[in-house]
Parts: sequence; structure tokens; C-alpha cells
Amino acid sequence: MENARTAVIKLFILAYFFEYSKGIDVSFRRYCKRSFLGDQDCYFKVREHWDFLKFRKWLDNLDPLGDVSLRITCTEGGSLYIPWPMRARNLKRLEIKNCLLRGYFDEHDVKSRYPDSLEVRSIVNSVTEVSLLDWVNVVKSMQSEKSYTCGQETLVRSIVSNNTYSFLNIPKLPGSKMLELLSEISDSFREKGSHVKFMDSCKKRFWSDQDCFFKLLALNLSSNPIWHLPEELQRWVEKFPQLEYLDLSNCKLQSFSFAKPTPHGREKAIYINMQNNNISEVPTDFPRYSTWSPPILIDLYGNPIP
Ligand SMILES: *[C@@H]1O[C@H](CO)[C@@H](O)[C@H](O)[C@H]1NC(C)=O
Ligand SMILES: *[C@@H]1O[C@H](CO)[C@@H](O)[C@H](O)[C@H]1NC(C)=O
Ligand SMILES: *[C@@H]1O[C@H](CO)[C@@H](O)[C@H](O)[C@H]1NC(C)=O
Repeated sequence: MENARTAVIKLFILAYFFEYSKGIDVSFRRYCKRSFLGDQDCYFKVREHWDFLKFRKWLDNLDPLGDVSLRITCTEGGSLYIPWPMRARNLKRLEIKNCLLRGYFDEHDVKSRYPDSLEVRSIVNSVTEVSLLDWVNVVKSMQSEKSYTCGQETLVRSIVSNNTYSFLNIPKLPGSKMLELLSEISDSFREKGSHVKFMDSCKKRFWSDQDCFFKLLALNLSSNPIWHLPEELQRWVEKFPQLEYLDLSNCKLQSFSFAKPTPHGREKAIYINMQNNNISEVPTDFPRYSTWSPPILIDLYGNPIP
């Protein structure tokens, strides 16, 4: 009896080392609930540092593998190494909270081995570390694939709330060049001080913009320090043809205006939540928004409109 038990334990240890020797981090398994069909529902509480690439590698070796859901919450000082656009095998849902995100540009020139799969992405109360030097190189080389710059086109729901950017590796440049650079940056990293960037925006000069976010139904940008409505959102129908819900509540908007959509064959309205901003007047064509095709419906509750 005792021998049998020892044998089982030995076998277990052997299996463990076999996986370990292949570089598979067996410790991920403990944090994931596996369903009968191989779905993995994973939750990590990160205190120090967590590496998305190791997790991705672990997923590579699972068989069968169903849909993967990954939730990560960091405690004070916790950080993730997670290069954009965060692809992994069968990853359908990704939720990140309270983390410092590193490695943003690290895979911009790497051809992804994984097809788009992400449907829901939520990044809340987080800080993204961006190397300015890398950013300059990415813009300069412009070699990034569309799939890199557009993020994942399978995305249906995106939540980006109270996120800021911190910049590293600020290049040494003469004053005028620096100004030029900063104006380019302020174009894509919108806003003073906190440097909010619309990661998802498909800016023409930076990325080829066909089909970006074709499937996106809901975009939640609530609680971001947004002072001006970016062009991409003013002309929302071009970048987000299916968008039905846009949450811009609790931002710092002082004004807004939307472009009249070009005929698009879509009748379904978009609902835009602009509650609790600092909007004191509406554009002159505002009364007609709801008659446009598609109609634009805006909730302005909690704004200082006289
Ligand atoms: C916004 O996120 C920061 C962490 O980046 C956090 O300290 C702060 O409490 C958050 N603010 C709100 C209103 O949740
Ligand atoms: C949008 O995000 C905010 C903050 O994360 C949340 O409170 C709100 O419920 C979200 N809106 C929707 C419609 O999910
Ligand atoms: C609201 O906007 C006014 C200008 O229209 C500005 O003076 C004020 O500081 C803003 N308030 C907040 C809380 O941002």
C-alpha cells in the first residue's frame, strides 16, 4: 500500500518535472477553473510581477483548449508584462484592474502566431508604461502590421476606464524636434498631464484604418480625463460602424459635436452617455441628431447646461 502511494507520488513528481522541463509553468493551473469542454477561467491576484508570455505559452500546450477568460487584479506595486495587442490562443475575455502594464510596444514588429480571438477587453485603473523611444521607432518604421495597430478585430466590448500613461526613455532631441515629436504624440496620446491615449483609435497616419473595430458594439471610456472629443469619435460611424453604446460619462468634456453620418444603411441608433461632464452648451445642430441616420441619442444629465 505504502509502496503504491509512493509510486503515485513519484509519478506525479515526474509529470511535474516533465512539464517543468518543457518550460510550462504548471503553477498557472491552480488559478484556473477548467470546464468539461476545456474552457479555462483564470483569476490572478498580482502582488509583484506577472508575465503574460508565460501564461500564453502555458495555453499553447493545453489540449483540448476551449474559451479562455483571464482576469488580473494587481495590488499596490503589481505589474504585468503584456505586449499589445494581447493575443493568446483562444483568449476571449481579458480584464485588468489596478496594474502597471509593461512591454506595450515589444511585439510591434513580431508577426503574431495567434489569430484574433478577444471579444471583451477591460482595462481599469491602470497605468501603461510607454517607451517614447520605441514609440518614435514604431512611427518611423511604420512597418507594424494592421493587426498590431488596430488591436483585435474580434472585439465586441471594450472598457477603458481611468487609465493613464507614463513615459520612459525620452529621447534626447533638439528643442524644435522635441516640439514636433510632442505634437505628434499629443495627437495619439490625447490630453495634457495624464496622457490618455485612445489605444483603439485607428489613426490614418499611424495605421491603415479599414475594418478597424468592425464588430465593436460597446465602448466604455467612462472616467477618463478627456477634455475634447477626439476626431475618431466625432466620426464614430467610420471607425466603429456597429457601435451602439458609447460611454463618455464622468470624463472632463466641456463641449462636443458629432459629424452627420454619411448614408450607411444602418438605422439602429447609437446611444451616447455623457452624464456628469462639464458641458455648458450644445452644438447648434444638436436638435437634429436624433433624426439623422443612424440617429445619435445623447444623455447629458449632470452637466451645467443652463
Ligand atoms: C484611478 O486609478 C488609480 C491607479 O492608477 C487609482 O489610484 C485611483 O484611485 C483611481 N481613481 C478612481 C476614481 O477610481
Ligand atoms: C463603464 O465603466 C464604468 C467604470 O468602469 C462603469 O461604472 C460603468 O458601469 C460601465 N458602463 C457600462 C454600460 O458597462
Ligand atoms: C468646467 O469648465 C469651465 C469652463 O467652461 C472651467 O472653468 C472649469 O474649471 C471646469 N470645471 C471642471 C471641474 O473641470
